[in-house]
Amino acid sequence: MRRFTVLACLIALGACSPKAEPPAYNTDQDIAELMIHVVDPAAFAFWRGSGTEVTEEGERDLSPTTPEGWKVVEDGASTVAEAGNLLMLPARVREPAADWNRHARDMTARALEAKDAAMRMDKQAAFDTGAKLYQTCVACHAQFDVAAGAEEAPLPEP
Ligand code: HEC
Repeated sequence: MRRFTVLACLIALGACSPKAEPPAYNTDQDIAELMIHVVDPAAFAFWRGSGTEVTEEGERDLSPTTPEGWKVVEDGASTVAEAGNLLMLPARVREPAADWNRHARDMTARALEAKDAAMRMDKQAAFDTGAKLYQTCVACHAQFDVAAGAEEAPLPEP
């Protein structure tokens, strides 16, 4: 009797819930490609416009001087924030998934703070939030055995 009830339930479930379609995400780009083409260029778009650079002539302020310049910096942070979501698409998640997703969410949270600093055109906040964003790259790379210093390699200037 019990067995029959279970079977009946299963049949009923099958009848009522249509087979779940797999999500239509295209994850042909693997993590390395996502890093090289999305995360890294976007993060460097932000970092190139925040803080200072030490040159032979002394310190140079990297902060944008126009609203358009600040928008480029803000766009970078915005893209990094969304890339955190892309890292959490099921086909991309690495084990332990809880840690992977936490690192991805941290990156998004810090990127949104960075975006906010750029939106306010706040030089000091852009520097501070940029440093915190950098820490989230390092933290994930450290746990998932990514070659040390990956996050320090800006792509060549266009
Ligand atoms: C949730 C984890 C995670 C976060 C957060 C993360 N990365 Fe990565 N990153 C990886 C993994 C995993 C790889 C190695 C991919 C592979 O080779 O399979 C990688 C590789 C890279 C590489 C080397 C790509 C190559 O193969 O040449 C760069 C550059 C990089 N990440 C930049 C960044 C930057 C910049 C940030 C922060 C803004 C960041 N990553 C945040 C997981 C992460």
